[in-house]
Amino acid sequence: FDVSWDAAAAEKGGWSSFMAKEVAEQPEAVAKTILGRVHDGQVVIPELDGLDELFIGINRIIITACGTASYAALVGKYAIEQWARVAVDVELAHEFRYRDPVIGADTLVVSISQSGETMDTLMAVKYARERGARTLSICNTQGATIPRESDAVVYTHAGPEVAVASTKAFSAQITALLLLGLHMGRVRGTVADASVDVAELQALPEKIAKVLASEQEHVEQLAGWMADTRSVLFLGRHVGFPIALEGALKLKEISYIHAEGFAAGELKHGPIALIEPGQPVFVLLPSPRHSALIHSKVVSNIQEIRARGARVIVVAEEGDVAVLPFADEVIRIPLAGAMFEPLLSVVPLQIFAMALATAKGLDVDQPRNLAKSVTVE
Ligand code: G6P
Repeated sequence: FDVSWDAAAAEKGGWSSFMAKEVAEQPEAVAKTILGRVHDGQVVIPELDGLDELFIGINRIIITACGTASYAALVGKYAIEQWARVAVDVELAHEFRYRDPVIGADTLVVSISQSGETMDTLMAVKYARERGARTLSICNTQGATIPRESDAVVYTHAGPEVAVASTKAFSAQITALLLLGLHMGRVRGTVADASVDVAELQALPEKIAKVLASEQEHVEQLAGWMADTRSVLFLGRHVGFPIALEGALKLKEISYIHAEGFAAGELKHGPIALIEPGQPVFVLLPSPRHSALIHSKVVSNIQEIRARGARVIVVAEEGDVAVLPFADEVIRIPLAGAMFEPLLSVVPLQIFAMALATAKGLDVDQPRNLAKSVTVE
């Protein structure tokens, strides 16, 4: 009697890859990260109870991380500055610790790491502590080294992430940063009423599930048509900028296609030279409800690249018809507040990278040359 089974396949629970499973688990990863951290319409992170001094009397925050986590950090910069009214810089951990940064007791250094073991991020935290900065880590792995080296920790509850390319941990990191921004805003007295933002947060899992349900097939089809593509560009503005960077990183990591993310406002300062007929460009179009001005700027970027023959794939909110005349494809996301859109717009980009890698016959879970956690320098 011989029962042969494959442990890895069993854990995948019927999914074609861990990455596919983890992309699908994002509503749950976000919901679990929010769980227990909202009380009476306010964000109260229990792990930070009694640690208000971490957030009062600081005049600067540095968020440090590597890879995907550094793009979550960039989204966090926008949210924390808006809600907690304190200046935030994002620093790649390996750049931060090899110079002589201006930090001290008035600086809060927030580190972000899925594994909690990335050597550069760990060393950046140690370096910050030695120089008297306050430290807080956002981590997905209970009891990992980075949280142990920090004054405080806010765990993401994405569950174990197996695929090398990070997806659900990224969403959970952004969620944790949004929670942290609202928590700090409450403690610092800069957010008078968080109820609208809290409602936005709590609506996220369902909206992410909606994107998965409504756009998965569409995006997979798109990737199938583009299997021979050699280069893809991504443009975003405001919090869409880090998502453009993340969309490009996902594509590089698992489908080995040249991909670049740009701030849409930089288009005229270089990237537009890359546009030639047929060049695929993903554009993350922010909702006109947040800022008619920012929306119109991105729409004119779309017109500019379209006029030069780009193949334009726009990620836009439901009902935004402004781009229809200029877009080759429109991927729809549900309406969400400005800070919450990244958690929706990243999903089709993850699916695109995964589907393109699959179309090329590649192993999406274990891309060449990459490791899940880089514990060496
Ligand atoms: C590696 C992984 C990436 C990850 C980065 C940071 O490069 O392949 O997916 O974003 O490390 O990892 P961390 O565990 O610190 O978030």
